[in-house]
Amino acid sequence: METTFESTLKAYQQAVETYLNGCFTDETQPQQTLFDAMRYSLLAGGKRIRPVLVLEFCRLCGGNWEKAMDFAAALEMIHTYSLIHDDLPCMDNDDYRRGRLTNHKVYGEAQAVLAGDGLLTAAFSTAAGADAPAETVVEIVRTLSRCAGELGMVGGQVLDMEGEGKTLTPQGLLEIHSRKTGALIVAACTMGVIAAGGSVAQREAATRYADALGLAFQIRDDMLDAVGDAKKLGKAVHMDGNKSTFVTLYGLERCEAFLQEETEKALSALSAFENPSFLMELTRRLASRDH
Ligand code: IPE
Ligand code: IPE
Ligand code: MG
Ligand code: MG
Ligand code: MG
Repeated sequence: METTFESTLKAYQQAVETYLNGCFTDETQPQQTLFDAMRYSLLAGGKRIRPVLVLEFCRLCGGNWEKAMDFAAALEMIHTYSLIHDDLPCMDNDDYRRGRLTNHKVYGEAQAVLAGDGLLTAAFSTAAGADAPAETVVEIVRTLSRCAGELGMVGGQVLDMEGEGKTLTPQGLLEIHSRKTGALIVAACTMGVIAAGGSVAQREAATRYADALGLAFQIRDDMLDAVGDAKKLGKAVHMDGNKSTFVTLYGLERCEAFLQEETEKALSALSAFENPSFLMELTRRLASRDH
């Protein structure tokens, strides 16, 4: 049977769902509410783009993608925690995420903070338990921590918050997004390369790809806040009101051009890899995604 883009994507996504569904299920523990809150957001059906990137970069660099599942799942746990905290009243104050009420709307703010803390922490034991050489695990944990922490996503969230109500320069906006969204996409692609034992050149090409894809991804996210459909998105629209976004800075038309430009850059970085057709298609589809 010919392998189509859809069937490959589905196989990756299903493997991720199966893995995540097995997490935080220990019924002998008394803190079941915490497990419920963690699973509520983790299993709410995100696109799983970051774990898919981990698995596909591992395959592209000659690795066995099934062995990279612990790393892929660890990254999705961190991404999910970032969404739970991003939605809190003290941050973006959102009521819907992944087609459901946000975590704090169901479990309350304190539980939502702790569900995020639980996911963040569990990510590292998940990655540390992978069936991979010790040096690979250490390098992955270091990458994950750097990209998620104060130099990466958390740092970007702080800049995003501080930028509220201000008109940012194009450079300022890029600095926010390369951290807040770009860093976890860089983590995804480079973790896949590291899991496969890929070369430095492959890691650099993966970073070039991820930088461009991460930017394109956030431009599209900002556009969808302005013109998307809440039902398809699974989250409310017009929530970026007080923020400087790519849409407020450039307008929709220039955003579209910028998005295409970054998508082209991402595609050209893929020429460093043999057989990147799956990733090329994924990259194109993400540029025109409606959710
Ligand atoms: C949303 O990420 C937050 C951003 C970084 C823009 P996704 O669009 O990947 O959300 P899910 O995981 O599919 O819910
Ligand atoms: C969120 O960016 C990025 C992180 C969670 C780190 P946004 O605030 O734009 O994401 P959405 O639009 O709520 O998904
Ligand atoms: Mg936000
Ligand atoms: Mg938000
Ligand atoms: Mg957004």
